[in-house]
Amino acid sequence: MSSAPRTAPEYWDKYRPHRGEDPQSRPAADRFDWTGVPGHGPGAEILGNPRTALDLGPAEGENAAFLAKAGVEVVAVDFSPFQVERARGFWSDLPALEFVHAEACTFLDQDDRQFDAIYSTWGAVWFTDPEELFPRAAERLTPGGTFAFSHREPFAGTYGAQIMGGTWLEGRETELTVLRWQHTTEQWTDLLKRHGFTGIEAQVLPTPEAGALGTLLVKAEAPIAWPMASAELDL
Ligand SMILES: C[S@@+](CC[C@H](N)C(=O)[O-])C[C@H]1O[C@@H](n2cnc3c(N)ncnc32)[C@H](O)[C@@H]1O
Repeated sequence: MSSAPRTAPEYWDKYRPHRGEDPQSRPAADRFDWTGVPGHGPGAEILGNPRTALDLGPAEGENAAFLAKAGVEVVAVDFSPFQVERARGFWSDLPALEFVHAEACTFLDQDDRQFDAIYSTWGAVWFTDPEELFPRAAERLTPGGTFAFSHREPFAGTYGAQIMGGTWLEGRETELTVLRWQHTTEQWTDLLKRHGFTGIEAQVLPTPEAGALGTLLVKAEAPIAWPMASAELDL
């Protein structure tokens, strides 16, 4: 597996900061959102009807909360200590929702629970080398389970590991390298196939705002038998 640098959690401690004196109120969790555009695009039906789900990179955790309120047992893993503490505070009334402070690949290595669905909305899948993440996700999914993720549609030609600017990090003395992995629908499809996923559907959802980039949404099914015997791989 490759050893591309994993991005620094502290970058994400500044994501969606709370401004103001009053305690921060929790976000609405009345719809599952893949796009970041309120009320736009498909919802939780992309995940089928999971009994258990794993959210990779939930930040404030509203998608995980939506699923938990609908009766799904959800584990939500984020490597920003700030995001995890805030999300735990927001959703402490939902016993079916567990927030774990961990890096996504490390969690998948160390926690042997299986999930009917693993998903990530503009989350850890976007910011982690798929060569590291995909085999680990495949191992933790129940056979035939759903793997789905979304991220912003890439600018033409900006594919693979891309360095992301961090405007909220002004004033730091050292540079943080933050990478995000973005691909075309065809490239994601090939990557997922190579890691044994089937039933792959990848699409770009246009945004309602004229000229703005859309959302790339990918859905796949976990391998039925994993790892595949080498004979089946036709080596
Ligand atoms: C852009 S935010 C997306 C948050 C949320 N899913 C949403 O839809 O608004 C990315 C989140 O992924 C988390 N993240 C990024 N890389 C991660 C990794 N390798 N392991 C765990 N969490 C990660 C960050 O800490 C951050 O909370």
